[in-house]
Amino acid sequence: MQWPTRVDVIDVGLRDGLQSEAAFVPTDAKIALLNRLIDAGVRHIEATSFVSPRAVPQMADAAQVLAGARRVPGLVLSVLAPNAKGVERALQAGADEIVVFVSASESHNGKNLNRPVERSLQDIDEIAALTRGQQVKRKGAVAVAFGCPFEGDVDPDLLERIVARYAEHGFDGITLGDTTGMATPPLVERTVARLQQRFGNLPISLHFHNTRGIGLVNVMAGLRLGISTYEASLGGIGGCPFAPGATGNICTEDLLNLLHEMGIQTGIDLDRLVQAARLLEDIMGRPLPGQVMKAGPRSALHRLDSVCAAQG
Ligand code: COA
Ligand code: ZN
Repeated sequence: MQWPTRVDVIDVGLRDGLQSEAAFVPTDAKIALLNRLIDAGVRHIEATSFVSPRAVPQMADAAQVLAGARRVPGLVLSVLAPNAKGVERALQAGADEIVVFVSASESHNGKNLNRPVERSLQDIDEIAALTRGQQVKRKGAVAVAFGCPFEGDVDPDLLERIVARYAEHGFDGITLGDTTGMATPPLVERTVARLQQRFGNLPISLHFHNTRGIGLVNVMAGLRLGISTYEASLGGIGGCPFAPGATGNICTEDLLNLLHEMGIQTGIDLDRLVQAARLLEDIMGRPLPGQVMKAGPRSALHRLDSVCAAQG
C-alpha cells in the first residue's frame, strides 16, 4: 500500500475548537496558542472565523487574533468566512486563505447559516466575484458532508452540486467536513472516490471529528485514497455550536503520532506541539481529549525504576 510521503496538517483548534466554548477565551491567550503552533512548525492554521459575532461571540476578535501572528515564511493563515461581509473583513485583516462553507443538508445549513442551500450557493457566487484575481487562496468547505445530525445520510447529488459550484469558480480546493463524526471508512471511500472521479485534480482536504471514536480510522481511509491534507485540533477540542452532540475534532498531536509512525512527514515537531496542547489545557482549565499529550509519543519510554513491581 502506497501512502502519501508528506501530509499537510491544518490545525483548526483556534476556530473549530474554540467556537463552541461558552466562556470567552482572551485574545492574548488565542494569540499565544497561535504562535506556539507556529513555533512547533505548523504552517497551515485555521486561526479564526469572520462570522457574525452575534452568532458566534467567541470569534468576535478575529482581526486581532490574525494581527498577533508571528509571520514566518510559508505560513498560511486560513479563516472561515460565510458571506461577503466576512470576506471583506478577512481580506482587510490579511488572511492568506478564505474558507467558505455550506452544509450538504438543508436542516444544518438553516441552523448554521440561517438560509437555504440555494441562497448559500448564491453567496458563493458573490464571494467568488469579490475575491477573483486577488492574492488570497479560496477553499470551499462542505459541512455535514458525511451525514447530518438532523437528516441522517446526505444526498450525494447535493454534495456534488456544492462542490461543482466551488470548482466552477476556480477555488483552490475543497474540504469535506464530518461535522458530527458520522463518517465511516466505507462512506469516506465512496464519497471521495465519487468526487475524485468527477472533479479530477481538485485538491480535497478531510476534516474529521472523533465523535464516535473512529476519526483516525477515517484518516487511514483517506490516506489509502491518496488524500494528503487533514484538518485536526490541538488537544482534540472542537465542535459545532449548531449541531447537537458535536464533539472534538481529531486531535492534531494524535494524528501526528500516527503519521510519523507511518513514516509520513508533516514538518511539525510533535514534542513542541504537545507543549502547546498543555498550554491549551491550562487555558481551558480542564483535561482535553488528546491522548498522546497524556501518554507521550510512542517513542517516549519510562525509566524502569519509576514503577514498582507487582508483588503478591
Ligand atoms: N461578520 C460580522 N457581522 C456580520 C457578518 C459577518 N461575516 N455577517 C452578517 N453580519 C451582521 C450583519 O451586519 C447584521 O448586523 P446588524 O443586525 O447589526 O445590521 C447581522 O449580522 C445579521 O446579518 P444577516 O446578513 O441578516 O445574517 P443572518 O442573521 O441571516 O446570519 C450569518 C447569517 C451567516 C451571518 C450567520 O448565520 C453566521 O455568522 N453563521 C456562522 C455560523 C458558524 O460560524 N458556524 C460554525 C462554523 S461550521
Ligand atoms: Zn468541524
